[in-house]
Amino acid sequence: MRYTDLKLIVEEGKSIFIETLGCQMNIVDSEVVVSIMKEHGYGYTSDIKSADIILLNTCSIRDNAEHKIWHKIKEYQHFRKKNKKLKIGVIGCMAERLKSRLLEEGGNVDIVVGPDGYRSLPALMGSVLGGKKEVNVELSVEETYAEITPVRLDANGVAAFVAIMRGCNNLCSYCVVPFTRGVERSRNPYTIISEVEELIKDGYKEVTLLGQNVNSFKWNDERGDVTFPKLLAMVAELSPSFRVRFSTSHPKDLSDELITVIASHHNICKSIHLPVQSGSSRVLKLMNRKYDIEWYMERMYAIKAAMPECAITTDIIAGFCGESEEDHQQTLAVMREVGYSAAFMYKYSDRPGTRAHRSMEDDVDDDIKTRRVNEVIELQNHLSLEHNKLDIGHVFEVLIENSSKRNSSESFGRTSHNKAVVFPSEGHKNGEFVNVKILECSSATLKGVLVD
Ligand code: SAH
Ligand code: SF4
Ligand code: F3S
Repeated sequence: MRYTDLKLIVEEGKSIFIETLGCQMNIVDSEVVVSIMKEHGYGYTSDIKSADIILLNTCSIRDNAEHKIWHKIKEYQHFRKKNKKLKIGVIGCMAERLKSRLLEEGGNVDIVVGPDGYRSLPALMGSVLGGKKEVNVELSVEETYAEITPVRLDANGVAAFVAIMRGCNNLCSYCVVPFTRGVERSRNPYTIISEVEELIKDGYKEVTLLGQNVNSFKWNDERGDVTFPKLLAMVAELSPSFRVRFSTSHPKDLSDELITVIASHHNICKSIHLPVQSGSSRVLKLMNRKYDIEWYMERMYAIKAAMPECAITTDIIAGFCGESEEDHQQTLAVMREVGYSAAFMYKYSDRPGTRAHRSMEDDVDDDIKTRRVNEVIELQNHLSLEHNKLDIGHVFEVLIENSSKRNSSESFGRTSHNKAVVFPSEGHKNGEFVNVKILECSSATLKGVLVD
């Protein structure tokens, strides 16, 4: 018997280290996994060297994400030398995509479990500890882990993620997510509310509601319909000083009602992640995004009309099948017109199983993709800097999340616009809201001083 980080008494051989790659959804899933395992006598350790079980929560979104994972699996094999009984597991999206191939193709792992199979982990792990190999990659149409309270693995106790739905029905032609995470399902909203209430009680100051397409959240029971705008308002109204964010909003169904709810609650952050993917309607059609660029711009202007100060961020894919130089120029033009405050930018990566893989040609040369994504990144750096410069001289409410990595007498926090701010702490602690006057900036960070 011994203690783990969570100060739980854990049976010998049952301490788990879990490494999370991929998106925010995986962060929540790892917390759900720890919660499930804890109920069965397992414990969590943040020290990989002392772990009896290493779980890797994986992502398949791009080819290079999977490369990284193969590399990690290889790296973990070193720990087997010191601990002959060590078990290694792969969970999450890559587990779902590759299934038992992860056992067969030299991965040397002991257990493979997909995103909907986490409730079966304790039983399967029992069998694995007994020397067997196990795989569960069954997808579900109803699993939402609704009543499971995740064990928060982040140490700061300030901002948490809460999953409000799972899966995706959109079938964007480039995307592997509908295959790794299955069909879309919404979580019982009343379990979401209780989870957020718990966070507030535990001193958290911010929540991000997560789903692949939060706008299509829907629930119906004897208490009536709950849509995403309604859920967002319910969460925001739990406490006026508790910040609420959400991600990701699909542009095709971002409604006026949602914009009104965001605008009318001061604690709903004025920052919307609205992935455009491409500025060309022709490419958007090939991508099966179900909106054209006119629709996207109209939604963007509706946001700006209701909340002129609202920051808009995006995701962009450069070099999708058939993307011409003109399409690429249209993407750059849209970026300039919107003036994104930040963006995630990627080279298109062909994913087996997707519609693009089956019926389109990955015909943009890699060096052209690289050049285009670099142009997109360069433009975004410029736009982010311009956006940040407008903040100089202004005062923002900042939620302190941590001390600055470079200098412990400085604090790091975020504005409602989701911008990173660094400033001298002057004794203020994580979880406090403070007012900061911005004095200087880079494209990634604002720097300022505390004011009353
Ligand atoms: N559900 C979210 C996105 C989830 S994936 C949405 O629809 O916006 C996050 C981002 O990864 C996507 O927005 C897209 O920009 C990128 N992405 C997805 N598949 C990709 C691929 N095959 N190649 C390159 N980037 C990809
Ligand atoms: Fe993928 Fe599209 Fe679903 Fe986002 S909305 S997860 S990009 S299929
Ligand atoms: Fe997320 Fe990657 Fe899966 S982006 S949903 S972990 S494929």
